[in-house]
Amino acid sequence: MKIKYAEFIMSNSDVAKCPKDPIPEYAFIGRSNVGKSSLINMLTNHKGLAKTSGRPGKTQLINHFKVNGEWFLVDLPGYGYARVSKKHKKTFQKYITEYFRKRKQLVCAFVLVDIRHEPQKIDMEFMEWLGTNGIPFCIIFTKADKLKPTDIESHTNAYRKKMLADVWEEMPQHFVTSSAHGTGREDLLSYIGSVNEELKGNF
Ligand code: GTP
Ligand code: MG
Repeated sequence: MKIKYAEFIMSNSDVAKCPKDPIPEYAFIGRSNVGKSSLINMLTNHKGLAKTSGRPGKTQLINHFKVNGEWFLVDLPGYGYARVSKKHKKTFQKYITEYFRKRKQLVCAFVLVDIRHEPQKIDMEFMEWLGTNGIPFCIIFTKADKLKPTDIESHTNAYRKKMLADVWEEMPQHFVTSSAHGTGREDLLSYIGSVNEELKGNF
């Protein structure tokens, strides 16, 4: 799929105030600093579209970006960021949960995990929660440029093993990406393109 243009639409913390357009929506979620905002910029070929930072906790709201005037990418705050206050964390959690529960346009959640790390409890629990709530998701491994190519396979295999040992019968669809090198861009865009195509007429 070709990206003709991508535009920022709005930020807010209330799912009821998100854009009303009846078009497919894809949300990026995962631990703080995993590379959600960077991946949105890489996919849209638009540096600075989503705000990124070397310090965790940069994205704090639900951010809608419209692509080609036809579908949304949503940048969400990260979870698991230890330095925000408990109260703040609760507020975050509440509107993220509400977002996933109530957002009708959401067709797929992309759960981002850093390819260098062992499977983390917080990610496993979050994916289980998505499963329980019937929310389709894919796993996106980020920062692949930080690993040697031979290690990429062993890390994704270890991840698969852990998922199968936990609650899953099969490994969800997954993608290996690097925002620094553009890895995975074509695969991810073609996946989104095929889902959009499949859903034509349903919106
Ligand atoms: P929060 O908004 O805080 O939840 O973080 P985020 O998940 O949006 O992460 P963000 O995109 O802001 O990136 C965090 C840091 O990781 C930045 O310093 C990015 O430059 C770096 N980063 C993101 N993606 C990659 C990647 O593919 N490779 C490398 N080497 N660094 C990356
Ligand atoms: Mg961010």
